[in-house]
Amino acid sequence: MKSLQKSLTTTRGNDHVRQTPHIRTSPRRRPPPELSLLRRTRRTTVSYDPNGKVVLITGSSRGIGRETAVLFAERGAKIVLNGRDPARLAETVERMHSFGDSVWSYPADVTDPEQCRAMIDAVIARYGRLDVLVNNAGVSMRGAFADLDPSVIDSVTRVNILGAAYPTRFALSALRASRGSVVFISSLAGVRGFAGVSIYSAAKMALTGLAESIHAEHHSDGVHAGVLFLAFTENDPDKTIMGPDGAPMRITRKASTTQRQAAEAVYRMVERRTRKTYLTASGKYLVFMQRHFPWLTDAVILRSKGSIHRARRQNSSQ
Ligand SMILES: NC(=O)c1ccc[n+]([C@@H]2O[C@H](COP(=O)([O-])OP(=O)(O)OC[C@H]3O[C@@H](n4cnc5c(N)ncnc54)[C@H](OP(=O)(O)O)[C@@H]3O)[C@@H](O)[C@H]2O)c1
Repeated sequence: MKSLQKSLTTTRGNDHVRQTPHIRTSPRRRPPPELSLLRRTRRTTVSYDPNGKVVLITGSSRGIGRETAVLFAERGAKIVLNGRDPARLAETVERMHSFGDSVWSYPADVTDPEQCRAMIDAVIARYGRLDVLVNNAGVSMRGAFADLDPSVIDSVTRVNILGAAYPTRFALSALRASRGSVVFISSLAGVRGFAGVSIYSAAKMALTGLAESIHAEHHSDGVHAGVLFLAFTENDPDKTIMGPDGAPMRITRKASTTQRQAAEAVYRMVERRTRKTYLTASGKYLVFMQRHFPWLTDAVILRSKGSIHRARRQNSSQ
């Protein structure tokens, strides 16, 4: 021990200078080229001008989709609203009348490939371009997987996966031409499976795979593909989701994000060409825990079967 102390302490004249053994103060090393390339890519900021850009948002006759449409319209974009119900779409166009003819709607069921093809063709015929596609149409469910009617599995899978895949498939050549963006609206249930949201979780996870593959295939064409993982967001008062038997049920849980915050997040992703955004501090915490302490995340989640119990309680009271 004494000899170690001695080796750490040398005498220079009357001064005692502490030295750290074996650590050389060499000039700072440059990061390897691939890392510096990564850093440069992350820091790049592109000035984004939404003015005159054509933005198609699926499932925008209400809820988060409608708020996203309002936000892009406020910033000067031309909006194409979508949903299945023409009356509700007309109501939303009316609500947005202050934006004049920069808001247009196209009723289509996103689970039908031919309707999606026709919708994209109609957008190109009207505007000659498409800059942003937001795959927002979605349907949620509650209930234990063992209780789910197969029709729930079918609907949730079709709307959330096929309903994002078909519009994207037909929009890609226009997005390549405009070097545009496709944003997939996912959920924190798309990061991690929770009790009570099994098939919804599976469908939202599939969007990550789709977005990553599109990025791999088309980033060199200038297409940006991003996924937004939303936390529980405020709902329109009349919104329902599917119960385990397929019957509509209301959601009683308190929201942690407003529709406006969700819309702002979509806009930021397009502006900054972000690949993944997780909303709320708890969402970010979940991602961190899931990545670094998966066993602890598991332990916490296994203690909570809240969604299943809520769904069973609500179902039996209907
Ligand atoms: N709200 C939340 O807490 C929350 C949390 C995480 C993620 N998300 C996701 O955010 C997105 C929007 O949620 P939201 O709460 O705003 O939903 P919402 O209020 O239920 O609105 C859904 C929209 O999608 C349309 N839609 C449904 N099925 C469709 C189909 N087959 N073809 C075309 N349009 C269809 C609906 O119009 P029609 O019925 O007229 O077709 C409506 O405009 C969804 O992808 C959802 O999974 C929501």
